[in-house]
Amino acid sequence: MTRRRVVSGMRPTGKLHLGHLVGALRNWVALQETYECLYFSADWHALTSDYADTGGIVASVYDNLADWIAAGIDPERSTLFIQSLVPEHAELHLLFSMLIPIPWLERVPTYKELQEQLTEKDLSTYGFLGYPLLQTADIVIYNAHVVPVGEDQVPHLELSREVVRRFNNLFGEVFVEPQPLLTPTPRLPGLDNRKMSKSYGNAIDLSDDAETVRKKVMQMYTDPKRVRADVPGTVEGNPVFVYHDAFNPDVAEVDDLKARYRLGKVGDVEVKQKLVKAINAMLDPMRERRAAVLAKPGFLRELAFDSSAKARAVARETMGQVREAMKISYARS
Ligand code: TRP
Repeated sequence: MTRRRVVSGMRPTGKLHLGHLVGALRNWVALQETYECLYFSADWHALTSDYADTGGIVASVYDNLADWIAAGIDPERSTLFIQSLVPEHAELHLLFSMLIPIPWLERVPTYKELQEQLTEKDLSTYGFLGYPLLQTADIVIYNAHVVPVGEDQVPHLELSREVVRRFNNLFGEVFVEPQPLLTPTPRLPGLDNRKMSKSYGNAIDLSDDAETVRKKVMQMYTDPKRVRADVPGTVEGNPVFVYHDAFNPDVAEVDDLKARYRLGKVGDVEVKQKLVKAINAMLDPMRERRAAVLAKPGFLRELAFDSSAKARAVARETMGQVREAMKISYARS
């Protein structure tokens, strides 16, 4: 029996942090048990918002691949590849662009939202409008059934299904309609309780060393009303406890800290020291795996090329069917 297929991607825009772990990577790791998984670095998608600033993309791609493996993605079981090393994604994107009305793309909510939010970026390009169409090509070229994504990506998957329906109506059943698989965990707040974001510098990176983690946690935002340790505090929505819930496997310890916090019987320092310990205990095996990967010269590069070739073989086959279905297939004889 062949296993159902999962495809997901991440834009290589910098270092990965705890938000990526909770929001994506833990899910990616778990899915390896039941699905055939393809995970890729969406380097072309990184260009849709930063076309002039491309100098960091390649380094981010390899840095992210190392973090994925550190987090538990097994490169023997899952195919870890680079989007631009499978140029068939671009061919399929172009063919889709011929049959998809522009208003379908204009009404994807992220299109206007991001234009309004990221006013410092030029998001008036053709490529940015086509972002979810390229994403559709990424997914359906592998006939993926399931796409693990965050809540914000659900409208993109809706568009993907519409594109598949239109294509299949016009040219016959070639593609599978992909379904989103939402990450169960709610969004992790930043260390300062704002939205976690690279530009705010309010995240713990997966590659931070133990001392950096300690410093960051000890400066975390907690309940501002709690001016002294004997003042009762609020646990709900308090970032320190959101993090305990996400990263401290010792539930009894967390429950005890919460109870004492509510009564004003524990200091922030103790709560934070226990959080430092929990996060570092979780990151330690990841640090070891990352170090092991980086210690093998050329390992990531070879992996990226070999796996991208594997993905490409699948993508090529699909494109053969697509050209056939669209009656733009050529043969010498
Ligand atoms: N849009 C996704 C994000 O920003 C990244 C992405 C690109 C993706 N192509 C994909 C995710 C295909 C899932 C499947 O997170």
